[in-house]
Amino acid sequence: MSEVISIANQKGGVGKTTTAVNLAASLAEKGKKVLLLDIDPQSNATTSLGFSRSDYEYNIYHVLIGSKQLSEIILKTDIPNLKLAPSNIGLVGIEKEFYSPTRKNRELILKEKLKEVASDFDFIIIDSPPALGPITINALSASDSVIIPIQCEFFALEGLAQLLNTVSLLKKTINPKLKIKGFLPTMYSAQNNLSKQVLADLSHHFKDKLFHVKKNQECIVVPRNVKIAESPSFGKPVTLYATDSKGSVAYRDLATVIVRG
Ligand SMILES: Nc1ncnc2c1ncn2[C@@H]1O[C@H](COP(=O)(O)OP(=O)(O)OP(=O)(O)O)[C@@H](O)[C@H]1O
Ligand SMILES: [Mg+2]
Repeated sequence: MSEVISIANQKGGVGKTTTAVNLAASLAEKGKKVLLLDIDPQSNATTSLGFSRSDYEYNIYHVLIGSKQLSEIILKTDIPNLKLAPSNIGLVGIEKEFYSPTRKNRELILKEKLKEVASDFDFIIIDSPPALGPITINALSASDSVIIPIQCEFFALEGLAQLLNTVSLLKKTINPKLKIKGFLPTMYSAQNNLSKQVLADLSHHFKDKLFHVKKNQECIVVPRNVKIAESPSFGKPVTLYATDSKGSVAYRDLATVIVRG
């Protein structure tokens, strides 16, 4: 059975998609069979792997409304072991479907759909939208754990309590196995005092929820790195686009920790 990990934070632009794409690619590089599932109508994960709208007819929307099986929309990528379930702006329409009064178990639709492919993958990595609405709730309900990227900027921890409350509510109700895998500081600049402060705050509040390659080593921090910012426009994860860059190293380290379990 595959391990399902959501990348979530309702704050926008904190590095969710970057983390989902590069963690998925790094796990695939380690020989793991990986499905990157894009469940954000912005479809940034889909685009980041080089797909444009004309490359695929169906997307996760069609799976969620029941007109396609998940296996029917999955695309091969240029990266061995990495497959993609694409999204599309049309996914915004799903919120209306979810809110239909006749719809039962609406939080569990994605979980149900994942069963079909669960034995085909070691990991399913879900990139969720910047909201705590029904799409993200579906992602969290289908997941074993969640990784929360935290941008090392002002307001970084704002709204975090709401996300943690949502996780804890889901844990008490429909998804008791849901764990917080960890917090991933992103866009860290060593020269920036604010970055250092955010990291210090995170270490203070969530020391045991930061990722460490080795005990007693500094926690994994994704640096602000121009190669990371450039790579989506080349349709490649940074681990391929600039394989030895600091950004690549950070995401490979994260994959090492995730594989170790
Ligand atoms: N470590 C980094 N260094 C430099 N740029 C980065 C880094 N991480 C992400 N970015 C850039 O910051 C922007 C936001 O990142 P990303 O799209 O991953 O965030 P997101 O949380 O998925 O956003 P949204 O909430 O809109 O889905 C992108 O342009 C991305 O390329
Ligand atoms: Mg995103």
